[in-house]
Amino acid sequence: MENIYSFETENHATDNIEELFKNLKKLTSLPAEEAHCLPFECYSNRTILDTEVKEIFHSDWIFIGTESELPNCGDYLALDIGGEPVVIIRGKDQELRAFSNVCRHRGATLNPIGFGNVKKFICPYHAWTYNDKGELLGVPFKGKVKLDKKEHCLPEFQLHIWQGCIFINLDQEAEPFGDRLSMLDPYCELFQMKKFTKSFARTQYRCWEANWKVIMENAIESYHQFKVHNTTLEKYTPTKDVFYLKGSADCSLLAGKIIEINKMIKLILPDFFDYYLIMCLRPNCLMILRDAGIEWLSAFPIGRNKTAIRAGGASLTGKQNIIEKRFKKSFFDEDEVIVKNTQAGMHSRLSKGGKLVEMERPLVDFHQYWGRRLFGATPTPLYTNEKKLTEFHKCASEYFGKSFP
Ligand code: FES
Ligand SMILES: [Fe+2]
Repeated sequence: MENIYSFETENHATDNIEELFKNLKKLTSLPAEEAHCLPFECYSNRTILDTEVKEIFHSDWIFIGTESELPNCGDYLALDIGGEPVVIIRGKDQELRAFSNVCRHRGATLNPIGFGNVKKFICPYHAWTYNDKGELLGVPFKGKVKLDKKEHCLPEFQLHIWQGCIFINLDQEAEPFGDRLSMLDPYCELFQMKKFTKSFARTQYRCWEANWKVIMENAIESYHQFKVHNTTLEKYTPTKDVFYLKGSADCSLLAGKIIEINKMIKLILPDFFDYYLIMCLRPNCLMILRDAGIEWLSAFPIGRNKTAIRAGGASLTGKQNIIEKRFKKSFFDEDEVIVKNTQAGMHSRLSKGGKLVEMERPLVDFHQYWGRRLFGATPTPLYTNEKKLTEFHKCASEYFGKSFP
């Protein structure tokens, strides 16, 4: 299925960027029935990427992973957020903190991207040393130079924990996290999401050859499932049984049904609730919530058509069961191919995107978020699919023996 060759694409330059921005503002304010794909140039234009980095990745709350991935004092995760090296560490006092991952001496990167455990950060260049609160501890061979250690601490970033998930914001002046995801709280509480404190084996970042929006759009819609995951996911979480419950520019909620190939699975697994929830956490996270655990994917742009992605999950035991393993395998094996394929198609200058169908409603929400951040577009209000929501609440109440507020 992969192309045997493809043209080397440069920046998808746009003749009139102001005109494009004006049109995008209009496009991302349209109600769902009128919504179209974004113009393809949005997925490979340098100015668009730079604007996204400034208005989203460097100034909004970005999903990083879960608290359970950093359970011990000294555990850290280093990553790059739109060109900004960041490290999140659990301190001796058990608190998680986010710091710049750049040495205050001459700018070396302190920790390589990925996970680790340290007592203190020691710069690989001249071994300046920082503690878990970002304070400069030591400067070897300082000589007689006067150096104020307090002036050389690692800058700290805002960090917020929501339902066990870590979000950080690189903008010191940013609005607090607030109630952006409060619509999802009753569902997280119903599934007791906070009890999933054991993380699956930590996954490292991988690089996929597609724009970060192509990857997020693919992750948040189940429309492609019957085709792309026809012999895998589709068999036990069919496309026809996925429905949109409610959503807005802030987040979207969908539910799907796990069907019975599971006679066999049910023999090896304890009783479980047949529904799973799909939570789209703007801007860069897709999370699947089941009564047995969570699984998620996060995306970080590293270029116009390159994205670092990471998938993870947690449960009571930290062991992945057969369902989780299948979710992840289908995702990695099949989605990577289709997003790369789509990115290659989107370099076309002579083609343009079409209407979004009903099952692509999460894309409408995502585009509205994007339009609001980048161009000040006004999103449409929260939409609720009353019929499906009532149906889901009824099934959930029966299973969990609790009613919804
Ligand atoms: S750059 Fe870090 S110690 Fe010199
Ligand atoms: Fe997929």
